[in-house]
This record gives sequence, structure tokens and C-alpha cells, in this order.
Amino acid sequence: MNNLALILYNRLPKTATDDELDVLEQVNIVSKSLKGLGFRVKKGQVDLNLQKTLDVIKKLNPCFIFNLVESINSRGEFVFFPAALYQYLEIPFTGSPLVPLFFAANKVRAKTEMKRLGIPTPGWIELDKPEKINPGKKYILKPIWEEGSVGLDEHCVFNGDDAGSIESIRKMDKEFYFIEEFIEGREFNISIIAGPNGPEVLPFAEMTFIDFPEGKPKIMGYTAKWKEQSFEYLNTRRTFEIANFDEKAMNQMAIICKKCWNEMGLKGYVRLDFRIDLQGKPYVIDINANPCLSGSGGFMAACEKSGMKIREIVQRIVEHALGHPINSTEI
Ligand SMILES: Nc1ncnc2c1ncn2[C@@H]1O[C@H](COP(=O)(O)OP(=O)(O)O)[C@@H](O)[C@H]1O
Ligand SMILES: [Mg+2]
Repeated sequence: MNNLALILYNRLPKTATDDELDVLEQVNIVSKSLKGLGFRVKKGQVDLNLQKTLDVIKKLNPCFIFNLVESINSRGEFVFFPAALYQYLEIPFTGSPLVPLFFAANKVRAKTEMKRLGIPTPGWIELDKPEKINPGKKYILKPIWEEGSVGLDEHCVFNGDDAGSIESIRKMDKEFYFIEEFIEGREFNISIIAGPNGPEVLPFAEMTFIDFPEGKPKIMGYTAKWKEQSFEYLNTRRTFEIANFDEKAMNQMAIICKKCWNEMGLKGYVRLDFRIDLQGKPYVIDINANPCLSGSGGFMAACEKSGMKIREIVQRIVEHALGHPINSTEI
């Protein structure tokens, strides 16, 4: 009877930043829950030596892999390598498969795919087409491959007539950055978890910006997410008490969540970030496949709000990966 679960996560550099260190908390949470569910647990770190990872998986022969790899060598563009390995070895693994992981990891690819599927996402411009910038619009410069708002703060928001910003953007690498239309308006994080009857959309969380001075961009940048003493961190809050509830926009977002999950092949657990413009139209700004499972993250907060305990969350994710309820075959 094979009851071994293998948790794989990214090897951290000595200089790991706050957003990278967060994976260790996720490993602990998942490990405890898996043990509580009756599994034996082993943990392994993934780096660019994928042969080593392949050898470890073959040797241990787990019944599934809990995939917590968020990047490799601190690079988001390698995030789908481990999924390719697991699929090659035909070992079940949690979260999204290779192809949706690739799409979700690359924001420009994700937007191209969303556009093709008719999922609303803000307009965008690649860096080799600066002539497309409209002087009357506001934009945000975003990293293509990063998550956790790495490299993203208020200096990234600029007006289309700001020659200085455009000049410095011209010198940046088009493989790593792109320009997106800035959506002035409310921000929502919506989590989705696999359930017995398909994807379950969890309670909506709004990100609120408190006492932001006039003109200061309202964004969940790196400072707001990770720098605990900063104005941005202290003055941004997640709330499930939605004021001035716009029923039409809320319904549209729920439909978009399911469409994204189904048509992009997402699995297990996902969080979508939305902005709603001043006319009430929702846009997907970010697809987070395998979102952070630490206690402070939006996904866990939404699960808790819906009444789920950590062990149940992990159980659902594992059962979706295995394709059947956890039973005596595994434990
Ligand atoms: N098009 C946009 N309009 C307005 N704000 C945006 C836009 N894109 C991103 N932001 C702000 O920047 C934050 C981080 O961007 P996001 O695309 O979610 O990247 P990450 O993967 O780093 O979370 C968002 O939570 C939002 O506050
Ligand atoms: Mg985001």
C-alpha cells in the first residue's frame, strides 16, 4: 500500500526575499495536513538540476506530488519545468497541469489566451510597439513572468503623455516586461477550489485602499504586499464585507471564474485578480494558478471565510489530483 506523499518546492537562495520565504510556511501547512490525512510525507527541493529531482521521484515513488514549486533559481519562467517532469513520469500532482501553468506564468500569453476565449482582460502593448501608447490613457508597466508583485510598485504607473517614463521603458527588455492599460476602480481577488461538482467559486474578497492621498496609485504593489511597516501595507486591506454590492459585476465575475477554469484547463486551486472599471465592467488582471497556501494569503482567507478548515482544503486539492476520494488505496 503506497501512502507516501512527496512535497516538492523550490530551493531558496541564501538571499531569499520575503515573497520567496513564504513557500516554507506553505510546506509546513501542507505537510501537517497530509500527515493528518494519514499520509507519510517526504519533502524535496527543486532547482535547475532536474535530473536529481527525477531520480528522487523515481526512487521514492510517491503516490502523488504536492507541487509547491513557485519558481526555480528565483526565476518565474521556469515554474512549469517540474510539471513537465511529473507528467513525463505519469505521477499525479496537485494544482494545474503543464500547459495552463505555462500560460498562467506568462502574463502576455495568459492575456492572449483570454482574449481568444472572450475573457475580458485590459488592453496591452508589448514594449517594441511604444507608438501604440495613447497619450490620453493611463498605463502600468508589468513584469511578464513574476508573481507576488515582484518589481511592481507605484513608479510603474504612468500616463501615456509622460515622455520621460516612455523613454525609460523603451530601454527595457520586451521579453520580461509589458504595458497594460491601467484600470481605475475596485479590485477583487476571487479564489476557486475543485469540488465534487466541479470548480467552486469562494467568497469574493475586495482589496481596499484606505486614505490613499489624491493621485497616489491604488495598487497592490510589492510594498503593499510585503513591506510590513510601509504606508501601503498598513493602508490596504482585504475584506469580505463588500460595500455597494454591484450585483451585475459580481455575477459576471463568478461566470468568468468558471469559464477561465474550464477553458484554460486550470485544476485544483486558483485565484483570479480582477479590477472593475468605473463603468462596472470587470477585467481579469492576473491568473494565479497554484496560489499561495500560507495563512496570510488570499486563497486561504477565502477558504476560511467559506467555513473550510486547512485539512479539508488540502484534502480537496489532493483528491482532485488523484481523481478520486482519498481512500484505503493511499492510506
Ligand atoms: N491593469 C491594471 N490596472 C490597475 N491596477 C493593476 C493592473 N494590473 C495590476 N495592477 C495592480 O498591481 C497589482 C499586481 O498586479 P498583478 O497583475 O496582480 O501581478 P502579480 O502577479 O504580481 O500579483 C494588482 O493587484 C493591482 O493592484
Ligand atoms: Mg496578482
